[in-house]
Amino acid sequence: MQLQLLATFLTVSTVVAYPGARWPSFQIDARQSSSWLDGHEWKSPSQVRGAVRMPCPMMNTLANHAFLPRDGKGITHDAFVQAQVNGLNLSPDLATTITNGMLGRLGAPQNQSEFFNMDQFSFHDHTEHDASLSRLDKIQGDFVRVNARLVDTFLRDSKTDSLNTASIGASRARREDESVKAGSPPLSDSFVAAGQGEAALILLIFGTGSGDSRNAPKSMVKSWLLKEEFPTAQGFVRSETQITPDVLAPLTAGIKRVRDQLSNSTTPDDDGENGWRINH
Ligand code: HEM
Repeated sequence: MQLQLLATFLTVSTVVAYPGARWPSFQIDARQSSSWLDGHEWKSPSQVRGAVRMPCPMMNTLANHAFLPRDGKGITHDAFVQAQVNGLNLSPDLATTITNGMLGRLGAPQNQSEFFNMDQFSFHDHTEHDASLSRLDKIQGDFVRVNARLVDTFLRDSKTDSLNTASIGASRARREDESVKAGSPPLSDSFVAAGQGEAALILLIFGTGSGDSRNAPKSMVKSWLLKEEFPTAQGFVRSETQITPDVLAPLTAGIKRVRDQLSNSTTPDDDGENGWRINH
């Protein structure tokens, strides 16, 4: 039942309801966007004793700004959700869906019973996959930390000052192709879709505009990916309005459409390998 619901993700909507799920009553804090970083100054993990991080640029950013523990350790399900609500103004249902998808990839329960360290999410072929936009493949070296050359190529997939579904769809097709040429196995069906969901989050958070014509300034995305810091110097502020799943759906669909055209293949249905469907 859960899988069936999850499979509707790409075609119908970005978010699926877990049967019987009740969203915890997370509240966005009352601060205005200009001050959402009060008390959340950026600090490099290299300055934090024993800090661990993961291959996700946004989770790392939230830890670097102390929306998650700065050492990246002892994080519960609800703490992941709350960090996305407070740091990004995601709606609790969207933040819960993203979190559940990720914890599911580790085979973890979607409740408060477990504490996670961020480096657990570097688990290759479970939460971490090849053909990332900003990280090397496992066989190529450091697959957890950002690679500046890959970021540069990602930005150059767009000929304008901003990224959109067309440029990111092209980036996804290119990275899958490069990955196989580098000698990595082809991405599993689940990860082909997951890569599109992850990429759509970039336009969701940093983009403006409606539907699948939302676009995100390259200057913001570049600074964010390289430093894992909110790019306030480039004009970024947390969304004033809560970001809901309906904003994400057309972005994922737009990226999928372009990737499928350029790859000359259709994004496959979940192969069941990981028991989850893209909800990240
Ligand atoms: C509990 C919440 C989340 C967890 C545990 C998580 C974890 C991960 C992991 C493990 C990856 C690595 C996949 C790979 O191998 O490329 C990843 C990638 C990514 N995540 Fe997250 N993530 C979360 C939420 C978010 C949010 C809210 C954003 C918003 C921007 C985001 C943006 C991204 C992007 C853009 C990538 C792709 C990076 C690339 O391809 O180089 N994530 N995430």
